[in-house]
Amino acid sequence: MNRQQLLCDSRSLMKSLVILISGRGSNMKALLDAKLPTENITVISNNPKAAGLAVAEERGVQTLVVNHRNYSDRVSFDTALAEKIDGYQPDLIVLAGFMRILSDRFVNRYQNRLINIHPSLLPSFPGLKTHASALHEGVKIHGCTVHFVTPKVDYGPIILQAAVPILPDDTEQILAARVLQQEHYVYPQAVRWFLEGRLKNIENRVEICETTTRNTVLYSPGLPE
Ligand code: GRF
Repeated sequence: MNRQQLLCDSRSLMKSLVILISGRGSNMKALLDAKLPTENITVISNNPKAAGLAVAEERGVQTLVVNHRNYSDRVSFDTALAEKIDGYQPDLIVLAGFMRILSDRFVNRYQNRLINIHPSLLPSFPGLKTHASALHEGVKIHGCTVHFVTPKVDYGPIILQAAVPILPDDTEQILAARVLQQEHYVYPQAVRWFLEGRLKNIENRVEICETTTRNTVLYSPGLPE
């Protein structure tokens, strides 16, 4: 298959997935519970203490640790990680709370088959502390983004976004929980589209083949009828 342009022609094939985590793994759990059309899923963590590892193992999913602390620099860690990943011949590599910045070489190796979820409506609020930043800036609508990964961090062709309102009494924690709920909804959907061969990435714009779009508008604050 031409990796540059994923065509809508491979939906009957069972696929292999590698999920990379660093921590609690709630997005990974949402993916594992989504009954995706895969024949093989492997979870890899850079952190041996990641709580998500036990969650995966409880579900009978194979896990592996590639501890970044055992490598002297980013490139040698990325090389070791890529070797492990390639052993599984994954169709898609899913970053699910993977807290290491990946080298350009690693990202380019998996061009168009490496995706991430970020807790903001990109391109607003890349980086960390996205919920605090959204509250600080006083935006009315916040959310999350699933995107293909490119060398520029928290950037790359957007597959799917979910928007939530920011409410008057929101704290960082309350807002994070509202966004996370949507992350668990959109990430499995985006991965399913990929595995079904429905994503077409044309010059930085991702089209989704054969989906129905509902005409909805989100106002925040809500408008009177
Ligand atoms: C999520 O908010 C995700 O958007 C970000 O890191 C967090 C990971 O949470 N990239 P979890 O480990 O999936 O619970």
